[in-house]
Amino acid sequence: MDLVRTPRTELVARFSHGVTAPQHVGRELRAQFGDIDIYLFDQLLRGRFDARSRVLDAGCGDGRNLIYLLQRGFDCYGIDEDATAIQVMRRTAARVAPDVPAGNFAVASLDHLPYGSASMDVVLASAVLHFARDEEHWTRMVREMWRVLAPNGLLFARLASNIGLESLIGPAGRVVRLPDGSTRFIVDEAMLLGWTERLGGRLADPIKTTNVQQQRCMTTWCVIKT
Ligand SMILES: C[S@@+](CC[C@H](N)C(=O)[O-])C[C@H]1O[C@@H](n2cnc3c(N)ncnc32)[C@H](O)[C@@H]1O
Repeated sequence: MDLVRTPRTELVARFSHGVTAPQHVGRELRAQFGDIDIYLFDQLLRGRFDARSRVLDAGCGDGRNLIYLLQRGFDCYGIDEDATAIQVMRRTAARVAPDVPAGNFAVASLDHLPYGSASMDVVLASAVLHFARDEEHWTRMVREMWRVLAPNGLLFARLASNIGLESLIGPAGRVVRLPDGSTRFIVDEAMLLGWTERLGGRLADPIKTTNVQQQRCMTTWCVIKT
C-alpha cells in the first residue's frame, strides 16, 4: 500500500479500527460501575461474584458499590443506620433496577442485621467498621456479618488500620485520631489474621493496605467462610 498516495480517510479507516472520535472511557465505566470501590472492582475481576448472587452491603451509604450488581441482576440488599442514606439508596435502586423491592434496603445497624443466618453469599463492609465505638462494638459487628454469611460466602471489608503508620498512631484495637484529622477505630494485621482464624474463615487474598501519603491507611480484608 502506498501510504503517501492513499487518501487520509482510507488510511484512518484501515488502521484506526474505528477509533477516531474522542474517547469517553471514564464516563462509560462510571455509567456501568458507578463509583465502585476499586478493591471491590478487583474482587469482581477475580470472579469472586461469579457464583455468589445474594449480596448485602452493610453500611451501604448512597449505594455506590451496588450499582453494577443491581444492574446485573444480583439479589442486592443494603442497610445503613442513616435514614437519608437509605432513601438515596432506594432511589438509586429504583432507577437502575426497578424490579428490586424498596424493602431490600433498610435502616438498621451492623450489629443487629435483620436477616437470617447463612442468608447472604457476600457481605460488604466498605469504610464502615472503622466507625466502631470500641473493640466490643467492632466484634459484635463482625460476628453479626459472619452470622448472615452462608458457607463459602465472602466477607469483604475495607477499613482503617495502623499498618504503615504504627509509629505515628500507635497500637490497634482502639479509636485514634489519624494524621488526616479523622477519628477512627483501627485494626492491624495481627488482629485481622486472629479474627480470620477465630471466625473459622480463610483469607481470599493476602491482607492489602493502601497508605495515603502517611495521612491514613486503608486495609482490604477478604475472608471466605469455610
Ligand atoms: C463512609 S460511609 C461508606 C458508605 C459505603 N459503604 C461506601 O463505601 O460508599 C459509612 C456508612 O456507614 C454507615 N454506618 C456506620 N456505622 C454503622 C453501623 N454501626 N450500622 C449501620 N451503618 C453504619 C454510615 O451511616 C455511612 O453511611
